[in-house]
Parts: sequence; structure tokens; C-alpha cells
Amino acid sequence: MSTSRAVRVRVAVLASGRGSNLQAVIDAIESGQVSAEIVCVISNKKDAVALERARKHGLKDLFVDPKPFSGRLDSREAYDLALLEILQQHEVELVLLAGYMKIVTAVLVNAYANRMMNIHPSLLPSFPGLDVQKKAIEWGCKLAGCTVHFVTEGVDEGPIIIQAAVPILDHDTSDTLAERILVQEHKIYPRAIQLFAEGRLRVEGRRVYIDTAKPEGEAIASA
Ligand code: GAR
Repeated sequence: MSTSRAVRVRVAVLASGRGSNLQAVIDAIESGQVSAEIVCVISNKKDAVALERARKHGLKDLFVDPKPFSGRLDSREAYDLALLEILQQHEVELVLLAGYMKIVTAVLVNAYANRMMNIHPSLLPSFPGLDVQKKAIEWGCKLAGCTVHFVTEGVDEGPIIIQAAVPILDHDTSDTLAERILVQEHKIYPRAIQLFAEGRLRVEGRRVYIDTAKPEGEAIASA
């Protein structure tokens, strides 16, 4: 991966859990493989390990408590408005959902159309939602994998940017399969971010095209 043609994209990462994908992105940025700057890491969970990882790397970490918003009819939208304000304050250009276990609403989706990505541990459109490694094994699939896609209002439904396939072995449990899928997640998420940074992602309807040649000097696409 070359970073020579890209500017440093201002990225926010939304994460709810252990943050191994966040770590993969941090590592790829620190090693110069990805031309981006993480300007904040936001979580809806106070104890998310992802926040600790952010702090360890000197990144801004923010816990945004969903509780004050709960009970309202528009609680999810109100929460997302609070997030949007933070993203705008930080002049975020690209939002990454990395194990963010909260459904994002139109408030964020529209503000960051084709500028918000998610990583999901299945070969979408097979197995959206939760416990997907277990579901793939139980279905008898021979191939599982992971998908990076742009985020739309439908959960796990947006245009697909990159996928990686992982064979399902006879002795696999959901844990062993998840572990091997994660190795691929950590490769394809940084790759998708770098393609964005290089302005090489073009969305037409459901399809994302990866431009092969881009004139020198062109940077971020709003894809
Ligand atoms: C990853 O496997 C990611 O693909 C999945 O949660 C895990 C988070 O791990 N995301 C989803 O299932 C979203 N639908 P991490 O916190 O170590 O990055």
C-alpha cells in the first residue's frame, strides 16, 4: 500500500468493545500504510477497551453516555445528533464503525453518506446481524469471511467496498472461525481506508468501483 498520493484523512472511530479493529487501523497509520489521522475515538460504553487503546496511543477518547437520551421517542436520533456535533467539531471526514454495537440512524447516515464505513464478520449479504460466525457454521457454509461496506440506513446493507473469504473447517467453533476472520478484518479495513484516502472509491448505486489510476495530486473523494 502506498500513501504517496493521499492526504491525511481526518477519521473518527466508533467502537463499543475490545477494539482490535481500531488497533489494526492505529497500527496501519503508525507504520505509514494508511494516510489518515484518528482525531477521536468515541464509544457508547464507558469501559470499552477501545477507549483504553486510544488513550495508550495519545488519541482523544470520548465516552458518550446513551442514558440521558433513553426514554425519549427519538432517543437514537438524539444520541446520533450529539455524536454528529462532536464529529463536526473535529472536522471528521471519514467515520469508521469498528465493533460499534449500536444501530446508527439517518441523522449520521445522511451526514456521512459514502463517508462512513463498517466492518462486519460475514460475507454480506449473507448473515447480517449478530452471532454470524455461528450462523455460518450451522448453515453448513464452506466459506465465511468479512466485509467492509459503506453504511446506509439498512443494517449491514450498504455498498460493499472489500470482502475477504475464510474457509470454514470441519472442526471450527464460532470462536476459532471468528479468530481467523478477524485476521482478515485487520487487513481489509486499513486497505479500504487507504483507498478512500487516495480518492479511489467511486459509488454507483450498490456498486463500489475501485479506480486503478488517479492523476497525481488528487486526494480524498467524497466517493
Ligand atoms: C469484529 O469482528 C467486527 O467485525 C464485529 O464485531 C467485532 C468487533 O471486534 N462487528 C459486527 O459484528 C458489526 N455488525 P473488535 O472490537 O475487536 O474490533
